[in-house]
Amino acid sequence: MSTPLSFFLYSSRLAPDCDPTEVGNIVKVAREFNASHGITGILVFDGERFTQYIEGPVSEIDALVAKLPKDRRHTDFLQLNAGDDLEERRYATWSMGYSDVSLDELDIDLMATIDGDAALNLFTKAVTEIDRL
Ligand SMILES: Cc1cc2nc3c(=O)[nH]c(=O)nc-3n(C[C@H](O)[C@H](O)[C@H](O)COP(=O)(O)O)c2cc1C
Repeated sequence: MSTPLSFFLYSSRLAPDCDPTEVGNIVKVAREFNASHGITGILVFDGERFTQYIEGPVSEIDALVAKLPKDRRHTDFLQLNAGDDLEERRYATWSMGYSDVSLDELDIDLMATIDGDAALNLFTKAVTEIDRL
């Protein structure tokens, strides 16, 4: 039997005292950590807000999800969707794909107001349309 996979989708906001140039460091460190812990996913940033989808072994996702909300570089951490019965990874080739987006590509505030599956659908559709990850 293969290892059970879980996923987690959230939105958050860049902390007021955190310079946007720090996002590059976040992505660099995340890529190294995720690659060595079987975690894949995509981080999207619009200059003010983040939304991130992560997937991987249940225990690894649980451990990362416990750490993420405590990171002072972002605030307003809001879970949008999660599950522990993922049959197949959505972003198997990305230890952490990254894209900065404009509002017309993905409205992260809107994602935060709709239900979990609709938020996930909006996210995956936008990622498909962003061809510069
Ligand atoms: C928006 C955002 C996304 C992040 N994504 C990841 C990630 O995918 N993987 C990761 O290891 N750390 C990520 N981090 C960093 C973690 O919050 C944390 O700093 C890192 O896991 C190291 O934690 P530790 O020093 O307590 O071990 C992210 C941070 C922010 C602000």
